[in-house]
Amino acid sequence: MPVDPLPVEPLRAVTATRYVVPLREGGSLPGVMEADDLGTYVVKFRGAGQGRKVLVAEVLVGSLARALGLPVPELVLVDVDPVLGRAEPDQEVQDLLRASGGLNLGMDYLPGALGFDPVVHVVDAELASQVLWLDALVGNVDRSWRNPNLLLWHRKLQLIDHGATLVFHHDWARVERAATKPYAADDHVLGGFATARAQAGDALALHITGDLLERVTAAVPDAWLEDEAGFDSADAVRAAYVQHFLRRVDARDAWQP
Ligand SMILES: Nc1ncnc2c1ncn2[C@@H]1O[C@H](COP(=O)(O)OP(=O)(O)O)[C@@H](O)[C@H]1O
Ligand SMILES: [Mg+2]
Repeated sequence: MPVDPLPVEPLRAVTATRYVVPLREGGSLPGVMEADDLGTYVVKFRGAGQGRKVLVAEVLVGSLARALGLPVPELVLVDVDPVLGRAEPDQEVQDLLRASGGLNLGMDYLPGALGFDPVVHVVDAELASQVLWLDALVGNVDRSWRNPNLLLWHRKLQLIDHGATLVFHHDWARVERAATKPYAADDHVLGGFATARAQAGDALALHITGDLLERVTAAVPDAWLEDEAGFDSADAVRAAYVQHFLRRVDARDAWQP
């Protein structure tokens, strides 16, 4: 049965105006920045240790999740002038900004958001099942009860931090096997709530078409895809992501939690 295509918004581009504060929880040192649209964003920097693949994963998975109707804060491209780092007292932040001139990834900053706690907070079965299925699709190991990467904002669940997904893209020789790789859901923070997994998976899978994936991959800037070993162009890398997702959706009996 054909389904109506879901909209995928292209990412807005903003220019950073001020570095506010580093977020030191994980290893990647994202920072809160203000931008010329008067927005405030959590920025992941191209020059951080894990490099641009983290940013690519954030855009692909975040955009796909948003297109599927899951709650991910808006993503934007943040143009950073390394000069913004000059006044930073912290050497590590200075170095990071110096290495990150040009486009970086921003996520709308949710002021006052609370970290999700599965002991205290409840998520309905449909949403929990959709999140678990998406995490399985993209191999997200960063949604455990120890490190949920879920926020509550205005009492609603928000998904953040998809940088550690799609691990095969750190070594494209692994992409073929990644299509059928099972997902270990035991540690998933929403496992106990996700009681409608098969229905959620079937419903979401219907929408993940080649057309949707082409629009999702188009959101990744060329600069983050160019000069990838084994590929001729940024578009060739985009096509490889599209093909991977289509194959994994097709093979979902092999990995569906
Ligand atoms: N959009 C956001 N709004 C508010 N706080 C955020 C947002 N994104 C991240 N944070 C906070 O910053 C922390 C680190 O961000 P995250 O994306 O998880 O990066 P990493 O774990 O790679 O360092 C999160 O655990 C959360 O506390
Ligand atoms: Mg995190």
